[in-house]
Amino acid sequence: MQITYYGHSCFLLEVGQGEKKYKLLFDPFVTGNPTAEKHGVSVQTLSDAQPDYIFLSHAHGDHSGDAEAVSRETGAPIIGVWEIYDYYQKRGCQAVGMNVGGTFYGPEKTNADFSVKLVPAIHTSSFPDGTYGGVPVGFVIADGAQTIYYAGDTALTVEMELIAERYQLDLAILPIGGHFTMDVEDAVEAALLLDVSHVMGVHYNTFPPIAINDEEAKRAFDEVGVTLHLLPVGKAWEVPQEKSSQEA
Ligand code: NI
Ligand code: MN
Repeated sequence: MQITYYGHSCFLLEVGQGEKKYKLLFDPFVTGNPTAEKHGVSVQTLSDAQPDYIFLSHAHGDHSGDAEAVSRETGAPIIGVWEIYDYYQKRGCQAVGMNVGGTFYGPEKTNADFSVKLVPAIHTSSFPDGTYGGVPVGFVIADGAQTIYYAGDTALTVEMELIAERYQLDLAILPIGGHFTMDVEDAVEAALLLDVSHVMGVHYNTFPPIAINDEEAKRAFDEVGVTLHLLPVGKAWEVPQEKSSQEA
């Protein structure tokens, strides 16, 4: 799998072991995202990447902000819980409505294709206009070669133990900025519950309340034998192959 980070919690994940690779865009938010803007990343950048699907962890503007624009430009459906589907289909967008515990399968529905399971997150969810967004979720994404977990916005929760029981994760993508989500200290604990060696940090340094010290954060993870990856914006990165990714 390959990840391109666009700042905050927005990233493109390329998956698939078969002929066809699929591009999954998560939580598109670049308009008004100072990290993205500083690096010249715009809605056009996301559209030019040609995502096949757009996944939303929840409805908050710093996750859903550019979903409609990219969906309209590319034809990629917006996938999320039912309330997110309902919101976008009423606006005439392509959307798929699911709910927690459900799994979205790629078109081939094989292990070499991909699957995205919606798992619990502890947070809230409403659209910027106040519309209820259902419950927030995280995602377990597998393509037969690798398995990763993107927590979305969440507090530290024992739900993560269940994910570790069921999946051998190559990577966990965790919020580390605190204030609205886990901070570094809690994300370190999450990494231990998840039994991962590699963590990619998201949801940090975008706005003053979630500013962190990058080097201190890396040291905190180092102390428990976990590598914290703080990715540069806009460069593709290969997900490390740490463990065999079969379901445990
Ligand atoms: Ni949020
Ligand atoms: Mn957020």
